[in-house]
Amino acid sequence: MSLCFGRLLLLFVLFSLASALEKDEVYRRNLLTNGLAMTPPIGWNSWNHFNCLIDEKMIRETADALVQTGLSKLGYKYVNIDDCWAELNRDSKGHLVPRKSTFPSGIKALADYVHSKGLKLGIYSDAGYMTCSKTMPGSLGYEEIDAKTFASWGIDYLKYDNCNNDGSKPTVRYPVMTRALMNAGRQIFFSLCEWGDMHPALWGAKVGNSWRTTNDIADNWESMVSRADMNEVYAELARPGGWNDPDMLEVGNGGMTNDEYITHFSIWAISKAPLLIGCDVRNITKETMEIIGNKEVIAVNQDPLGVQAKKVRMEGDLEIYAGPLSGYKTVVLLVNRSRIESQITANWDDIGLPPHTVVKARDLWRHETLNHTFKDKLMAKMDSHACRMFVLMPIA
Ligand code: GLA
Repeated sequence: MSLCFGRLLLLFVLFSLASALEKDEVYRRNLLTNGLAMTPPIGWNSWNHFNCLIDEKMIRETADALVQTGLSKLGYKYVNIDDCWAELNRDSKGHLVPRKSTFPSGIKALADYVHSKGLKLGIYSDAGYMTCSKTMPGSLGYEEIDAKTFASWGIDYLKYDNCNNDGSKPTVRYPVMTRALMNAGRQIFFSLCEWGDMHPALWGAKVGNSWRTTNDIADNWESMVSRADMNEVYAELARPGGWNDPDMLEVGNGGMTNDEYITHFSIWAISKAPLLIGCDVRNITKETMEIIGNKEVIAVNQDPLGVQAKKVRMEGDLEIYAGPLSGYKTVVLLVNRSRIESQITANWDDIGLPPHTVVKARDLWRHETLNHTFKDKLMAKMDSHACRMFVLMPIA
């Protein structure tokens, strides 16, 4: 009797230990080996501009616009459908059903169309019972079936939100979808959207290809810079295959000045953040095109070295970001967060260049290589909320 009890006790202890380890496995094991995201993802997402007002026609038109404007050639490949694309109820076999009134042709047909344009299609679900809009079901408990459905439709990217869940930790719920995606037979970029709640930068690379470090961005300066600050803390943890995500771009949505949008785009680019356009690219203005279409700034974001720049110095409202690029280059971003025109000095000591190094400087917004060379420091003036961005190339 007592032997039997002892065995039962041992079994119980082993079971508890195994389940404790299972819960912690994201800290130990690399669950995601899809080989994607060697550079940050770049494309478009429906949420920031359209919220729930989406349908298959505007997604197709967006794909067309990405091609017509030349944005797709610059790298913007992902066309990502956010919340509100499915019916409230699953079908009798448990499959998600595209909303009949807005996506009558289904997602597979849309994926075929988007692929025919040389682009990729992204979709959205949630590690809970319902998505954040509460207009469609989440994937909690349906991870296998949903991952297979997404793969069968030809989906290339999944954004996975955190609303209406069962109260368990994201480190328990998100890996279930990671495994399901790994078993689904298609390479699908996995974007963790748990808003930075459980410091996903610490475990995200084992579970997904990017992880939100903040709650939702709004289309104003304060919201944008505060997301940049929250995201910057985790700079060390970004790397090819897994990126910090301070949320999608607001450039072109109208709530900030042109200078503020240039600063927004520059910080996102230098931070190796996903560059997901959040405006209506079918009606894009020349000013917005000049920002999101800046090849040189995109090249910084997509640099193969894949190192997120850090804020290396702050003096009041004046900030210096710097980081290494491939080919021994250094990118520097000077940001004037103050209300008045200001001058910022970047010393080599701050940005990590050896003393006395002589560099040539390329101004990425003025598109010019400056005539003179720089030694020990670089100074620049800028208006309130404006920035200057330089790539420094050592010549001696
Ligand atoms: C959350 C996410 C947003 C967006 C909405 C959709 O708030 O953080 O990015 O996906 O849900 O409802």
